[in-house]
Amino acid sequence: MRTVPRRRRWTVKAPGAAEFVPADADLPQLRAAAAGCHGCALYIGASQTVFGAGPPDATLVLVGEQPGDQEDRQGRPFVGPAGRLLDRALAEAGIDRDTVYLTNAVKHFKFVERGKRRIHKQPGRTEIYACSPWLAAELRLVTPKLVVCLGAIAAKALLGPDFKVSERRGEVVSLAEYRVMATVHPSAVLRAPDYEQAYAAFLADLRRVCAEL
Ligand code: URA
Ligand code: SF4
Repeated sequence: MRTVPRRRRWTVKAPGAAEFVPADADLPQLRAAAAGCHGCALYIGASQTVFGAGPPDATLVLVGEQPGDQEDRQGRPFVGPAGRLLDRALAEAGIDRDTVYLTNAVKHFKFVERGKRRIHKQPGRTEIYACSPWLAAELRLVTPKLVVCLGAIAAKALLGPDFKVSERRGEVVSLAEYRVMATVHPSAVLRAPDYEQAYAAFLADLRRVCAEL
């Protein structure tokens, strides 16, 4: 059996979301509290907190990176182009999106302005760390069987800063609370030079997810 390297923990010091996370809250209360989070500077430029969405008793949780432009406007995760690709792949893999709890490692949109456009900017480790109490609280309440990290940011948030999706994609890692698998981000599939191949590999990962449930 493959031995799983020990998880290195985040050690970044940042004010963070912890003081905004209410004790003994249910998911709606958590969502309401997250709307007022000032745990890092990202709330300043973004329109709203995009909290997780889906059934509170979902067996599968998918974790993305952060909301994009559309999500920031609409207030819901995965409603833009990456979400449409994800919807298609989930349907093809036989997973009903409505049964899945979808969320992000970072709950506010980080971007740079280019004229009228807002261009996605990857969150840094301070922001990932600052926002992690929300994700931890969501996972404590939903208690999924399996958590799937979509891309490197989600994987680093849950599996530690040294985790490399390129090396460990599709591997199921057992943590004390749940199992975790990492795959690529749907945006990476959209951008891939060989789209067909990238989509097929993403779909194969989601089929493995289906078999693990
Ligand atoms: N990309 C993400 O990682 N999350 C979203 O909600 C949308 C796009
Ligand atoms: Fe709070 Fe996370 Fe938003 Fe930062 S990104 S303000 S920690 S919800």
